[in-house]
Parts: sequence; C-alpha cells; structure tokens
Amino acid sequence: MQVLVTGGAGYIGSIVNQELQRSGHNVVVYDNLSRGHAAALAPETTLIKADLVDRDALTRAFLKYEIKAVVHMAADALVGESMMDPAKYYGNNLVAGISLLDCMRTCGVGKIVFSSSAAVYGESAKMLIEESDPVAPVNPYGETKLAFEKALRWYSFAYGLNFASLRYFNAAGASVEFGEWHNPESHLIPLVLQAAVGQREYLDIYGNDYPTRDGTCLRDYVHVKDLATAHVLSLESLSESKNKSLVFNLGCGGDGYTVSEVVDVARKVTGREIPVRVKPRRPGDPARLVASSQKIRKELGWDPKYQDLSKIIGSAWNWLQSHPNGYPD
Ligand code: UFG
Repeated sequence: MQVLVTGGAGYIGSIVNQELQRSGHNVVVYDNLSRGHAAALAPETTLIKADLVDRDALTRAFLKYEIKAVVHMAADALVGESMMDPAKYYGNNLVAGISLLDCMRTCGVGKIVFSSSAAVYGESAKMLIEESDPVAPVNPYGETKLAFEKALRWYSFAYGLNFASLRYFNAAGASVEFGEWHNPESHLIPLVLQAAVGQREYLDIYGNDYPTRDGTCLRDYVHVKDLATAHVLSLESLSESKNKSLVFNLGCGGDGYTVSEVVDVARKVTGREIPVRVKPRRPGDPARLVASSQKIRKELGWDPKYQDLSKIIGSAWNWLQSHPNGYPD
C-alpha cells in the first residue's frame, strides 16, 4: 500500500517506517524536521519536508504518490512542556491534525492510524488500564490526544473514515539502525543511559513520594519495534473493511516498572554506576500508567517480542554505543 507517515523522521516514526517497508508497503514520510532527523529515514523512503498545515503541499503529496492511508505520528509529545505551553499543543496536535483530516477527505484518503497516548487516561486507579476505562487527562498533551481521538470518531461516523487510535504507553528501545535522540532529551531511559556514559552527572528522579511500591512513578515500557508491528497490523486490518473505528492500548502490562527499578535494570545492563538524586515531582505526571493490551492481542494477534525491560534497555544501550552523538542533523 502507498502510505504517508507524518512525523516519520521522529523516534517512533523512524522504526514504524522501517517496519512498514519490511512488510512490503511504500512509505512517503511527511515531516517538517523540526524534531525529526533526515538521517533517521530508512533507505527506500521518499521525504517531503513540509508542515502539516500546509494544505497545498499535503494535497500534492496525496495525489502524486496515490496515497491510500496515513499513519499520523507528527506531534509534540512532552508532558512537562505541555503544562508550560498548552497553546503549542492545541495548535500542533489538534488544529494541525484536523487540517490533515480535512485534506484527507478532500483527496479521498479514507484510512488513518493515529499515535495516541496513555496520557488520555490521566490518574487511573486500575492496575491494568483497559480501553473502556474512563479517560481524564491530567495534562494538555493528553487532552489534545483525546480531543483528536474524538474528532476521529465523529469523522468516522459522518464521513466513513476508517481509523485506529493506538494508545502508546512508554515507548523505549531501538532497532539496530534507529534510536531515540531528542534535543533536549526529557525521557527517562535515554537520560538514564546518558548518566551511565557520563554525559550527565546524575539521573534526576522526579518525586519519590508517589503512592507506588517504592514511591517513584510507575510506567509500562514497550519496545518501539513491538509498537511498530502494531501499526502494521492496525493498518492492514483497516484495509480489509469499511467504517472501522479501533482503539487499542499498546503496553506490556504486568507490574510495570518504577523509575528506581528502571535505573536498577540499566545498571545491570550497562555495568555502570548511574548516580541518581531525588528532585521534586514533575508537574503533570500521573503516579502509575500500566496497560492491559489484551484487546489488540485478541483482535489483531499482536504478539510483542521484547517485553523484558533488560532487552528494551539493552537495545537502547547498543544503539547509543554505535551512535554516541546521535544523529548528525
Ligand atoms: N522521569 C524522571 N527523571 C527524568 C525523566 C523522567 O524521574 O529525568 C520520570 C518521569 O517523572 C516519569 C517517568 O520517569 O514518571 C517516565 O517519564 P518520561 O518522560 O520518560 O515519559 P512520560 O511517562 O512522562 O511520558 C511518556 C511519553 C508520553 C506518553 C506517556 C504515556 O513521553 O508521550 O509516556 O505513559 F503519553
């Protein structure tokens, strides 16, 4: 299938692109490279460097490459930043997203796989969160992801759009070729590994007074390659029938890992010391977010291969060793 991947030069996008191509799809990446990297594009990729709100550029891309489906990953995705600058999140995640949907309608592109987030749930009392559980975001990032999910539902109802919303829990890890490289970095595992190699003095732990087993925040880390296979399965299931509206959690479930446990596993994987210091809580962080992913396992046969956190961190560590300065651009 001819697939347009917005944000395909970003961390998760680069690996989704790789997996789509391995599965035989032709990928056009549409990315303004504001956060992504040209060096993160798999070899056979066509890149269109443009903004999502540039309707002329997007229309040309849809028509020229005879695009049949969109994987929409372009977004701002930092919880902390969203608390400080909600306007940026409403603009880039919601307003630009709606512009994309309208352009798809005009051009007759009727399928979309959307990168949603566990942040739509907010603080959940459940051990394992299910898709039918209440959504109540506690930060603007999660609010904008939820608002776009709702738009997808109404567009599906009124215009027959086929969509899958994939609610990622904490994406982590790397493929051999592509990994996580943000500037500035704010995600836990890359920061832990930077502390392991001495690129930073400490790993700051944001809060140790949460209601979790050791007081630090609990998350569900899912390997980015497993996320990527879920995109391919979702896309291919959309192509089989009309008016589909799918919502799936993507996580590993189980007990999750606290921040302190992540540091301990990283110490074992790297054999390095990793000094830590405790800092105040980061605004907008829920105490715990762990998924039930039974729905996508049952409905699409998703079978994550790298659930062990040491494998996830090991792959990120290997990538960092082979790319000590990340991407060149
Ligand atoms: N953390 C630290 N120190 C750091 C960085 C993070 O203690 O230096 C903590 C955070 O407070 C949080 C946990 O590590 O408790 C994970 O933080 P990340 O920034 O790596 O990830 P988040 O859980 O904030 O957010 C990520 C994605 C979101 C997604 C969310 C869903 O960035 O897009 O997972 O769980 F919505």
